[in-house]
Amino acid sequence: MLLIQMTGLSGSGKSSIANISREALTRLGYKVELLDGDDCRRQFCHDLSFSKADRLENIQRLGFVGLILAKNGVITILAAINPYEEARAALENKSPLTKTVFINCPLAVTVQRDPKGLYRKALLPPDHPDHIAHFTGISDPYEPPDQPDLAIETHAETKEQSAQRLTDFILLTIGQQSETII
Ligand code: ADX
Repeated sequence: MLLIQMTGLSGSGKSSIANISREALTRLGYKVELLDGDDCRRQFCHDLSFSKADRLENIQRLGFVGLILAKNGVITILAAINPYEEARAALENKSPLTKTVFINCPLAVTVQRDPKGLYRKALLPPDHPDHIAHFTGISDPYEPPDQPDLAIETHAETKEQSAQRLTDFILLTIGQQSETII
C-alpha cells in the first residue's frame, strides 16, 4: 500500500509521531507496521555500525522489508534517522509506493530534549569514556531532504498535531492511489 520513509535527527519525534499515527490508522481498519531504527538495529541490523556505509546498508535492509510489506497492503513507516540523500533517493527510485517525510526539528531543540541522553554523551570530550563518536548532527552528517513529500515541524506543535499531519497525508496518498487504480 504505502512505504513512509521518515528522516530526521535523533530526538526529532519520529517514533512518537509514527506510533500515534499507527494507532489512528489501525483504528480506521488499516494494517500498519512500524520499522523503528533502534528496534531494527537490535533485531536484524545489530552487525551494523554508524559509518556511512553501514547507515546506507541499514536503510537498504529496512527498505527491503518495508517494500515487501507495502506491496502486500500494509502501511509501513520507517522511523530511522536516514541521514543520506543517496539512501532516500535509492528507496524512492525502487518504488512509487515510497514517500519521504521529513521530521524537521532544529538541532538546538533535539539537543535540549535529549530523550535518550545521547547528545550529552556525543558532546563530551573525545577522550571521555562515555563519549559517543559519529553522532548525527554533532560529529556526523545529516543531509536534510531537498524535496520531501511532507515536512513536519515538530518543534512548532504538539506530537498529536504532528501525528495528525502524518495520518492525513497517508490517508490522502492512499485515496490518490485508489483513484489511479480506478
Ligand atoms: S540510521 O542513521 O542508520 O538511520 P538509526 O535510525 O538506525 O540510524 O539509528 C539511530 C539511533 O541509534 C538513534 O536514535 C540513537 O538512539 C542510536 N545511536 C547510537 N549511536 C548513534 C550515532 N552515532 N548516531 C546516531 N544515532 C545513534
